[in-house]
Amino acid sequence: MKLTTAAVGKLVMKSLPYFCRGEVIRGFGRGSKELGIPTANFADSVVDKLPADISTGIYYGWACVGNGDIHKMVMSIGWNPYYKNTKKSMETHVIHKFKEDFYGAVLSVVMVGYIRPERTFNSLEALIEAINSDIEEAKVKLDLPEHLRLREDNFFTSAASPSSPTPSSTAASTSQTILNGH
Ligand SMILES: Cc1cc2nc3c(=O)[nH]c(=O)nc-3n(C[C@H](O)[C@H](O)[C@H](O)COP(=O)(O)O)c2cc1C
Repeated sequence: MKLTTAAVGKLVMKSLPYFCRGEVIRGFGRGSKELGIPTANFADSVVDKLPADISTGIYYGWACVGNGDIHKMVMSIGWNPYYKNTKKSMETHVIHKFKEDFYGAVLSVVMVGYIRPERTFNSLEALIEAINSDIEEAKVKLDLPEHLRLREDNFFTSAASPSSPTPSSTAASTSQTILNGH
């Protein structure tokens, strides 16, 4: 039985918020070049640790690069069906104009809501339009009080230094001080 987007959203919301931190690696570079929507790809160590209850699809939440400011974000998890990737990825578009790339930096995110499943499109323009609509939806939803609250979570203030104490709201840690969990 195929679940509707609303049903998947309802199910996955039970697993949110999901806190996640890791190094930014190079993707295929299509986000900036082809789509005009740059994305920061998480290292495999982060993708491999995603729990089974976080399904593939498009999410929104909060993001912070290194110890920088906290911004709204949208994230795509999966295989990018339009491009038929063979490797699962977690790609975050931080809704902010950065002056330069931040490959190698530590990205901290909290996923707070689900938008839709990943899908393929008939044209690049249609994919871009869908992502821009995701961005607009995220901007509006993140202004809800229950989501604004998570922007203040101490997960962000305890940021990305190896000596930082473990944030109370995260469940698991790795040797690379990458803390992922519900
Ligand atoms: C909010 C958002 C929604 C996305 N939705 C889809 C989608 O529905 N289908 C798809 O194939 N790719 C989707 N993508 C992934 C883009 O295709 C991907 O970010 C782009 O190819 C850049 O990847 P790269 O950095 O590995 O080059 C989405 C990305 C974002 C940020």
